[in-house]
Amino acid sequence: MSGGKPGQNFRSGRKRQEAGFHKTKPKVYVTRLIPEEALNKLAENAQYRIWEGELPVPREVLLREVSGVDGVLSLLTDKIDAAVMDAAPKLRVISNMAVGFDNVDVRVATTRKIMVCNTPEVLTDTTADFAFALLLAAARRVVEGERSVRAGKWKTWGPMILLGRDVHHATLGIIGLGRIGAEVAKRGKGFDMNVICYDTVRRPGLEKKLGVEFRDLKTLLAESDFVTIHCPLLPETHHLIGEEQFKLMKKTAILVNSARGPIVDPKALYNALRSRQIAYAALDVTEPEPIPPDDPLLTLDNIVIVPHIASASVATRTKMAIMAVDNLLAGLKGEKPPHIVNPEVLAK
Ligand code: GLV
Repeated sequence: MSGGKPGQNFRSGRKRQEAGFHKTKPKVYVTRLIPEEALNKLAENAQYRIWEGELPVPREVLLREVSGVDGVLSLLTDKIDAAVMDAAPKLRVISNMAVGFDNVDVRVATTRKIMVCNTPEVLTDTTADFAFALLLAAARRVVEGERSVRAGKWKTWGPMILLGRDVHHATLGIIGLGRIGAEVAKRGKGFDMNVICYDTVRRPGLEKKLGVEFRDLKTLLAESDFVTIHCPLLPETHHLIGEEQFKLMKKTAILVNSARGPIVDPKALYNALRSRQIAYAALDVTEPEPIPPDDPLLTLDNIVIVPHIASASVATRTKMAIMAVDNLLAGLKGEKPPHIVNPEVLAK
């Protein structure tokens, strides 16, 4: 593991330098190893230090390493808050390698005129594919089936064994008809589903184009066979799905969350699954993350949980890393980054 000792891990042109940061190139801290193509591009234009550990950079290392940097390339596992910004008085750009940026205190960054960037679009299809994979896995009990085979429980074909729920012609309720939600809608249509949506913003043109009908949240929850979450985590969406919402859902309903864990109240989810208030859940994201191995949710059979991998394809992670580097370099050059989430910092 490296990144812990000041004076090591200086890189420029992919070469380790012992003498410290280059005089003219901007200084960047990268909080984890990212695809090499992106690092090479970064090295051509900046000098960087990197945390190479498998686990997130420890807080004290992050606070130490950012002192003197102009930019940070962060991940959703890094809390980039006022304390980090205090520790980095020269910081001009925070480039988060994720579409979500709830790990960054954008309000504080904006007051300090620090640009915050994210990586939308490049992960939309990959994430939508994965949301659908979770939906199918839960509906057709794929993971339970696989577990039973490994446990030596496959004794025969049985007319009553591992019966799931049909996806085709069922009603799919999408919470959040943004980029990813819209792609999930298309996939639902491909499976002949009846697709409905809820969002805080109406997009009548998009709804029409996708053939998706709008519902208020309560109606969507009541009508859906599958509810899939694609909204950002905001104060307003924290525990958006809790005890009251589970009560509105069908007993046969399946919940899919590939957005952010805290949008679903985990205690309420546990109770709803255990009491069969709803039938099943499939989560790519949890609260907290990672979910502790002794979490009560992991004692249930009617849940599939995977470790936040919806955007994890080779091609997509490479594109995300390159986009994060492009955003960072543009901001450091004084240009408008292609994907800045607080463009108001650029206003004169
Ligand atoms: C992943 O969760 C992302 O926000 O990119």
